[in-house]
Amino acid sequence: MSDSKVIAGGPVATMCEGAPYGLMAEGAIAISGGVIDWVGPLGELPDAYRGCERLDVQGRLITPALIDCHTHVVFAGNRAREFEMRLEGASYEEVARAGGGIVSTVKATRAATLEALVQDALPRVDALIAEGVATIEIKSGYGLDRDTELRMLRAARQISAMREIEVKTTYLGAHAVPPEFKGRDDAFIDEVVIPTLRAAHAEGLLDAVDGFCEGIAFQPAQIARVFDVAKELGLPVKLHAEQLSNLGGAKLAASYGALSADHIEYLDQDGVVAMATAGTIAVILPGAFYTLRETQEPPIDLLRKHCVSMALATDCNPGSSPLTSLLLTMNMGCTLFRMTPEEALAGVTKNAAVALGLPDRGTLAEGQRADIAIWDVRHPAELAYRIGFNPLHKRIFRGEL
Ligand code: NIG
Ligand code: FE
Repeated sequence: MSDSKVIAGGPVATMCEGAPYGLMAEGAIAISGGVIDWVGPLGELPDAYRGCERLDVQGRLITPALIDCHTHVVFAGNRAREFEMRLEGASYEEVARAGGGIVSTVKATRAATLEALVQDALPRVDALIAEGVATIEIKSGYGLDRDTELRMLRAARQISAMREIEVKTTYLGAHAVPPEFKGRDDAFIDEVVIPTLRAAHAEGLLDAVDGFCEGIAFQPAQIARVFDVAKELGLPVKLHAEQLSNLGGAKLAASYGALSADHIEYLDQDGVVAMATAGTIAVILPGAFYTLRETQEPPIDLLRKHCVSMALATDCNPGSSPLTSLLLTMNMGCTLFRMTPEEALAGVTKNAAVALGLPDRGTLAEGQRADIAIWDVRHPAELAYRIGFNPLHKRIFRGEL
């Protein structure tokens, strides 16, 4: 045990079953080789760990490091002008139909080099890291042509080599119809989305496949064609579903055993039941709801009733959610949707891990990765409670103190 380390001296929110937050008033965690060896009350720390290097957190709270399971942090430009337009009365859909929206970011992203995409994204990634995030998902979807989609995914992979963060990449080729395919959505799916999916997979650039199922994007039957190829390639799927209307996207995603259905403001009971049956996580994105001044709230009570686990994510993107704070996201989940602070913390740890298909993190338990956050707070509810304040004391990535 000589190469083990012990973290102790404060409350530990393991996020495991049992007490609320899996909380232990005086806990200890032993780690070695980047993995958690032992977790329990300090008084029960096995003798073998007594002489190990020790980090005394001096009463601070210990939690799993955070996981942002839905982001679009790789993109070029910004959409501040569109923000102004919406405040002058234009809706998100009107802006999109007028050639703004996703398509305007596509133009900027196509013009950006790989290096520029990485450099633009790093400050956003750094903001997340500074709040204790150790795993993020990054989607493509602002290229909408083969070269740019691949470039976005390579940029995402490069970020994980440049920062102490694990990046999971998701292909979002079916995000919007680019101008050159206007009125020919099916041809876009066949000629661009599917061939690029195969190319990205062949290059080892993909961990999952996503789509945007919406009136301003793609119909369920079109998404199904993309998901069929994902299934053939052995890639898990997830879906932007029921954000602005109900097209039955969540139900479709569940029928493919999707990891998650995301946004889901317009999700109905049928969709909730399908998600419960498939074990699909509900990813709640309050940043987009807030930015677009939406009024239809996701069906949190129904999700609870049917035991669908909920995650929370920033949805960081230049249009509907220019948000790089997972702590603020937790606060929004509570204040806007009445999630509990415990649900909010589970949503950025344990359930976010499931939404990414990562069983090795998100809780503090034996065998889990030693991705740990230490906070200058006494109780876990404080994390969701404060607005615009970052109490992170220290982030431990893969056991490195
Ligand atoms: O997750 N809903 C679709 N896609 C993004 C928005 C992208 C954009 O407006 O640029 C989202 O909200
Ligand atoms: Fe999104």
